[in-house]
Amino acid sequence: MRVILLGPPGSGKGTQANLLQERFSIPKISTGDILRAAVSDGTDLGSQAKTYMDQGQLVPDEIVVGLIKERIKEPDCDNGFILDGFPRTIVQAEKLGEMLRSMGQDIDVVVDLEVGKDELLVRLTGRSTCKECGAMYHKTTHPPKVAGRCDACGGELYQRDDDNEETILKRLTVYKQQTEPLKNYYEKQGKLKTAPGRGTVDEIFSRVCEMVN
Ligand code: AP5
Repeated sequence: MRVILLGPPGSGKGTQANLLQERFSIPKISTGDILRAAVSDGTDLGSQAKTYMDQGQLVPDEIVVGLIKERIKEPDCDNGFILDGFPRTIVQAEKLGEMLRSMGQDIDVVVDLEVGKDELLVRLTGRSTCKECGAMYHKTTHPPKVAGRCDACGGELYQRDDDNEETILKRLTVYKQQTEPLKNYYEKQGKLKTAPGRGTVDEIFSRVCEMVN
């Protein structure tokens, strides 16, 4: 099963991808996570990416396409994968299509999570993430039991550098201009399914599971 999760920043792609990878035992591949790990490791890739990420801009296509090309060849992707945050431009989608065709594979379904702007702002300005296991929390809707610590592993929680209002608004504009056209791109291929992204995490997960099954 090869799935793309599409949707604006804060629509719940990472949350749903974490649940899907557990349910279906296939890896989640998040370009955002890969890039943040490179930033935190202080690699050349990380320092190139950080400038774009801090401004809410997309990292250049050739960088992220190169990352995905390597990652989907790994043996744990043989039975499929969940793409979270990739592709984000038509060029990335075309390159992904070429890569998969050359491997005799294809995308099965693209799930678009639809959430309104006001809700996205609330979610992102209140989000914190575990440094160790990536679990996500929200200061009002899903606070950790102990402030600043992950319920699951006790790891330290942090707020992403790009989760401030100014950068979030920029990311939403970039999404509209560069990523939203992918809906039409995949709709024409008969692969797009739209999941209303409002509701509890579990409610949305049920909808997403129906769509990918
Ligand atoms: P990336 O890390 O992909 O960020 P994003 O797309 O902006 O999405 P987010 O991770 O912010 O949100 P999400 O949809 O995963 O929501 P989440 O589940 O966390 O990218 C970051 C940057 O990296 C980009 O700006 C770009 O610079 C670069 N980049 C990455 N990929 C790239 C690419 N392919 N090309 C070029 N550049 C790239 O949920 C958000 C919050 O809401 C959490 O607190 C969560 O607990 C809460 N929540 C989730 N579901 C619900 C619910 N149902 N109800 C209430 N709260 C909920």
